[in-house]
Amino acid sequence: MPTIVSTPSDWRNLRKPLSGSVGFVPTMGNLHEGHIDLCRRARAENDIVVASVFVNPTQFNQTLDFEKYARTLAADQNLLAEAGVDYLFHPDADSMYPDGYSVKVSEEEIAQELEGAFRPGHFTGMLTVVLKLLNIIGADRAYFGEKDFQQLLLVKKMAANLFLPVEIVACPTVRAQNGLALSSRNARLTPAQLEKAPLLAELLQSGMDDAAVMKKLEEAGFKPEYVETRWGRRLAAAWLGDVRLIDNVPAAEKHKEVLHAAVSGCG
Ligand code: PAJ
Repeated sequence: MPTIVSTPSDWRNLRKPLSGSVGFVPTMGNLHEGHIDLCRRARAENDIVVASVFVNPTQFNQTLDFEKYARTLAADQNLLAEAGVDYLFHPDADSMYPDGYSVKVSEEEIAQELEGAFRPGHFTGMLTVVLKLLNIIGADRAYFGEKDFQQLLLVKKMAANLFLPVEIVACPTVRAQNGLALSSRNARLTPAQLEKAPLLAELLQSGMDDAAVMKKLEEAGFKPEYVETRWGRRLAAAWLGDVRLIDNVPAAEKHKEVLHAAVSGCG
């Protein structure tokens, strides 16, 4: 089992005598194979692996979403143990926000678009907690999933521009066999919604343009917020009932599909 560490000062004291490289995987818990893939990568590339589980209140723009976020520490600990994680940093909100969240980190370009436009304050809360976590843990490498592509871009941008002494490592999205990107929120989908959900990834990878994908999602009963091609990716957010799904795929896939259609059209 990973050793549980509950406060920043406890970790600092534990960290001091440790030698070797440290890999860090920040999470909000309710872990699944997507998170564990990041842990395995960290395990393979570092001497010491630390994961954190902290449901960060400042990045939730809806109180209900924060309250409904599943907290499953015992199961998380078992999964982290299987992945060979050495330490689990699991602080409470008071120890992470001694100032009550008056000190913040914001980015004012990328963070205004897409997710940022639909979730005001989300990225400021996320960047603030990630900076705190990176400062506390003092890792050589920190692992983030492409599943949250805009988050990954922002963390990379923050690390570069605040000269943080950590390498941000991007990891590919882990999907179910039916293509659905794994997410802690999927557990809240009804069986019927779970059957419908893979359509999001399927449409994103199709040769249809962004507007057509948006229309198809609406017809299928999703409430899409955006489908846009940006940063070499096609990204989307869509509600299915009261669950908000996000996903993205390389934009090149789309072009490949178009190319394929064009070539087979010549047949
Ligand atoms: P959380 O949603 O728990 O995700 C933790 C990490 O796991 C993120 O880097 C996320 O991109 C990655 N991840 C989630 N699902 C994935 C999947 N299907 N495939 C690959 N990686 C996946 O993202 C957060 O928490 C928070 O914003 C956090 C960075 C911890 C700050 O609070």
